[in-house]
Amino acid sequence: MTTPKTATLTLGEQSMELPVYSGSLGPDVIDIGKLYAAMDVFTFDPGFTSTGSCESKITFIDGDKGELLYRGYPIDQLAEKSHYLEVCYLLLYGELPSATQLEDFETRVTRHTMLHEQMQGFYKGFRRDAHPMAIVCGVVGAMSAFYHDSTDITDPWQREVATIRLIAKLPTIVAWAYKYSIGQPFIYPRNDLDYASNFLHMCFATPAEEYHVDPILARAMDRIFTLHADHEQNASTSTVRLAGSSGANPFACIAAGVACLWGPSHGGANEACLQMLREIGTVDKIPEYVARAKDKDDPFRLMGFGHRVYKNFDPRAKVMKESADEVLGLLGVEDNETLKVAKELERIALEDPYFVEKKLYPNVDFYSGIILEAMGFPTSMFTALFAMSRTVGWISQWKEMIEEKSKIGRPRQLYTGAANRDYVEVENR
Ligand code: SDX
Repeated sequence: MTTPKTATLTLGEQSMELPVYSGSLGPDVIDIGKLYAAMDVFTFDPGFTSTGSCESKITFIDGDKGELLYRGYPIDQLAEKSHYLEVCYLLLYGELPSATQLEDFETRVTRHTMLHEQMQGFYKGFRRDAHPMAIVCGVVGAMSAFYHDSTDITDPWQREVATIRLIAKLPTIVAWAYKYSIGQPFIYPRNDLDYASNFLHMCFATPAEEYHVDPILARAMDRIFTLHADHEQNASTSTVRLAGSSGANPFACIAAGVACLWGPSHGGANEACLQMLREIGTVDKIPEYVARAKDKDDPFRLMGFGHRVYKNFDPRAKVMKESADEVLGLLGVEDNETLKVAKELERIALEDPYFVEKKLYPNVDFYSGIILEAMGFPTSMFTALFAMSRTVGWISQWKEMIEEKSKIGRPRQLYTGAANRDYVEVENR
């Protein structure tokens, strides 16, 4: 029987032993749950740089090694050998499916891809130039107004139905946001197409003629979905968990995740990165922008660079870079100026002491936009595609939290505002 590990906290005359837990991988954690009751103090960690919010078995990142595991399987192996719906099954249920389990799961997802017909009305309420993320956030939240039979989070069957509906319907919701923005009619999902092909068909087909999805582009799209599927307790996943901890229905929780992902420091970086590469324009302008990124007085940052956890390369960026070469080669645009600027910017930055010392490497958002633009998506669609891919991660983490019956999340604070004081009538101010 090993003696339990503890940490001793001493504050003035007081001290207490705090339990220390070890996971299967990664750093130990110190359980501070009883700290406030025992010593009347809070811990303080804005941005949660050293704080674990939960226990999870889903995804693990080793930032120093540049390793990302989904249920223990390395992301590069899954990107090469698996496919998105199989990865969805793995993230949701913890193991790779048998052939029968996979077929059943894919059939269930395929049969839930249609949206309630009346939901088309939501699109018509938006301006045509609305950002697709505004539409996706709104329509996903509105799902709780249509799918009342899967909003009771205490019912495992309703949780399962909501999970399948979200994974199945997000591609339709996102594709229709794109169609609405370009004034084209909505294309309904097709059950004879695989997940990625169906999405590309809904985006690029028109009623006027047959549209055949290129299988290589579909494979590249599917791989991009896999690379974005989950990523531990990032900002949007933490948002979903916090929303879920109040008992909010799963559609509302995922809409909250969509909203958080939109920010340029998070999922919005893929859109911001392509805009930055376009602004740089040509390779000779790179040194000017690298200098700006290093200038403390300049708020400019290299979008698609840096990460809170990865202090080595982001394994997703590595796969994405290989995919960029493949897709642009297939499309005959390998001399793409944006790709040239991206590769030269990466080379220069990785040789620059500022980026080396701060361990800033390209992240998942650095190359994704180049592929998506080459595939025909406008920049404004990039984060919506990220949201669609990450929905399975969000709902898997939500499911894990609900099944563990977590308490409502309610952080405390360091208050530095005014002390208690009496109201002063306006004539006396
Ligand atoms: C995603 O968390 C996840 O897992 C997210 C994600 C996922 O899959 O869910 O991986 C997806 O959000 C990827 C990150 C996309 N964001 C960007 O590419 C935006 C540009 N990068 C950053 O703004 C930044 O790197 C963050 C937000 C990603 C990380 O910020 P941190 O961990 O809070 O680090 P920091 O801001 O404290 O930066 C540390 C230092 C700072 O310098 P000092 O103040 O110490 O002198 O590095 C500098 C920063 O100024 N720095 C950069 C930089 N990123 C950090 N300098 C120039 N360019 C950058 N991109």
